[in-house]
Amino acid sequence: MIELADIETVGVIGAGTMGSGIAQVSAQVGYQVVLRDIEEEYLDRGFETIDDSLARFVENETVTQEGADAARKRISGTTDLADLADCELVIEAVVENVDVKKEVFADLDEVVGEEALLATNTSTLSITSIASATDRPQRVVGLHFMNPVPTMRGVEVVIGEKTSEEAGELAHALAEALDKETWEAEDKPGFVSNRILMPWINEGIRALDEGVATAEDIDRGMKLGTNVPMGPLELADHIGLDVCLDATRTLWEELGDRYKPAYLLKRKVEADDLGKKTGQGFYAYD
Ligand code: NAI
Repeated sequence: MIELADIETVGVIGAGTMGSGIAQVSAQVGYQVVLRDIEEEYLDRGFETIDDSLARFVENETVTQEGADAARKRISGTTDLADLADCELVIEAVVENVDVKKEVFADLDEVVGEEALLATNTSTLSITSIASATDRPQRVVGLHFMNPVPTMRGVEVVIGEKTSEEAGELAHALAEALDKETWEAEDKPGFVSNRILMPWINEGIRALDEGVATAEDIDRGMKLGTNVPMGPLELADHIGLDVCLDATRTLWEELGDRYKPAYLLKRKVEADDLGKKTGQGFYAYD
């Protein structure tokens, strides 16, 4: 099993909201990064997100222009999984669908060295189930970053049924090397974060659908009333309503009716109003 000092190149699969952020923070601390998506246009969008984020850091003077340029140069994009062959660590951040993730892990297992650590950024899916698609379940772990990755400090480390102690320790060490702080959860639906967060968001959506208050007042009420930076509807738009629906469905399947997705959440996703990423969710974005 590799150690932290052996990691030079980090593979990231999925260049969406999370994958682009994970690629960015990995490059900012000096790792070479290979970012993989299925289409060039998704890679281009991921690189745009990275460029915008780095530009904001430069503007705020938290990163120098040279530092931002050097980080950007360390990230290469590809649509070919074989380009991840030399990675000592791969972090998967594709859509929240267990079949897609299992297919990605089965393919990855064939491509990367047998000592490499494979991590998934899943919000709610079972690490044990995803790891079962590989011949190395002891080297598969959950590394659940928070959104937006470049500014959120927390990372949830999730230990699957077969994850080895060394793999768990390496996951904590790697997150710390990325300047993050960690907590650990067992492989139970939603882990700590989404088991508690998703029903809060879901209840906010139900409150809107059932006419308790306007979207603005639901968010204001929770912000002013509980001192959180974003209310449930604003946060749902930020996460992506499709991601919230997938996560809530998994919790519902595994934990029963108290997690049933709000009707309005399903209707918004069917209408492709996914939040910030499509310009329309509970609020409109330019
Ligand atoms: P997203 O929809 O923004 O990005 C997913 C990306 O994966 C897309 O670019 C898509 O083209 C790509 N993709 C799909 N299949 C692929 C494959 N076989 N190989 C390579 N790329 C593929 O999704 P997002 O929000 O980045 O979520 C990714 C993962 O992170 C999900 O598991 C989600 O539950 C989790 N997550 C999301 C958070 C959020 O706030 N959005 C927070 C924490 C975890």
